[in-house]
Amino acid sequence: MSQQHVLRFPEGFLWGTASAAYQCEGGNTNNQWYRWEQEGHILSGDTCGQAASWWEYAEHDFLLAEQMENNALRFSLEWSRIEPVEGQWDDAVLERYRAMLLDLRRLHLVPVVTLHHFTDPLWFTERGGFAHEENVRFFIRFVHHVVATLKDICSFWITLNEPNVYAFQGYLLGVFPPGEKDVVRTFQVLRNLMQAHVEAFYAIRSMQPQAQIGYCLHYRLFDPANPLSPLDRSAASVHERMFTWSALQAGETGRFTFPANQVLAPIPHAAGARDYHGVNYYTREMVRFDPRRPAEAFARRFVRPGSVRNDDGLSDSFGEIYPWGLYRVLKAIYQRTRGNKPLYITENGFNDHQDDRRPAALLAHLAILHRAIQDGIPVRGYFHWTLVDNFEWNDGWYARFGLIELDPVTQRRTPRRSASMFGEICQANAITE
Ligand code: NOJ
Repeated sequence: MSQQHVLRFPEGFLWGTASAAYQCEGGNTNNQWYRWEQEGHILSGDTCGQAASWWEYAEHDFLLAEQMENNALRFSLEWSRIEPVEGQWDDAVLERYRAMLLDLRRLHLVPVVTLHHFTDPLWFTERGGFAHEENVRFFIRFVHHVVATLKDICSFWITLNEPNVYAFQGYLLGVFPPGEKDVVRTFQVLRNLMQAHVEAFYAIRSMQPQAQIGYCLHYRLFDPANPLSPLDRSAASVHERMFTWSALQAGETGRFTFPANQVLAPIPHAAGARDYHGVNYYTREMVRFDPRRPAEAFARRFVRPGSVRNDDGLSDSFGEIYPWGLYRVLKAIYQRTRGNKPLYITENGFNDHQDDRRPAALLAHLAILHRAIQDGIPVRGYFHWTLVDNFEWNDGWYARFGLIELDPVTQRRTPRRSASMFGEICQANAITE
């Protein structure tokens, strides 16, 4: 009989799930994603509609998270609800968020609140959004207002979710709003977002000295199709540096590397402007040099043949399930930042409608995470994406990431096998290999 190993996580480790307002709340009709949806860009043709009904009933799912023995929960606030018209605050909305936060605390779930998760109020979009540096002040005013109102019940803030995805999907690949394809603009947006983070960091710090404040990036690996080919290697490294590491570098130092630093002004006071690194990790892509594709940085990207995969999406976002990548990402962040701050896995999850790969994939990622911690990388928590199926951006309802299945029509919830497994892990603060 094979021997079982119990791999225990550090005392006080945070276990939770992650979600975002637009994907869960429903009824958000005042932001650029709603407009995008109305314009017919959702690949599945779906609409977000009532989503997972969190605006009315989030507490039902919070209870499920508590029953799953979680001790934390990450969700986001919808700026377009809180400030529906420029400069006008909706107090009732903040009261609703207060009620959600109080409920989380009652259930002993540490609330982790994202202040920006892809959606912008329409008035902000009309002003050109984050493409203009002068618009950063609107976001900072929003952060001020929210933190001043909620700081008595929340002290763990994620300023921005995946600014690199927001910039690249929206401004380079054109698959998120505003659907542009302009490399210079992409980096301007990324720069302005990182500046927004830095300013938000100091704004929150001044109001709440004990707060934990950071941002999370999407850390995606790009590997050469043929590791012996210098052309494949350089194509892969260009992708990884552009998409994954440039944002971390800008967040750390306020500067981009060549050639972006030739057009982008440095971000003042970036060094030191975070209390932790938020890590969203999902997959890697393979890259082959291809001279016929100048628009795609002379490369073809593809999912490694023969790999265990997520369900195919309608977009090309999902792909390979590659647990070892989590170790590589954590190690790279640790080395690039000289281990200056603790890390949290702010997202990791699988698009698996039938839940036939998720249990093994979850376990494999957690085993690797445990190893990273053993090797001295200070990871303090793991947030699975996601609690219940929710509206997956341009894939609509086609992609299913929930530990709990949701029928968006009847709103019926059915826990997947992974949910009970995750519950056992959280309760034990350990996995058994
Ligand atoms: C990253 C995003 O933050 C989240 O909104 C999305 O649903 C998941 N990844 C899954 O694609």
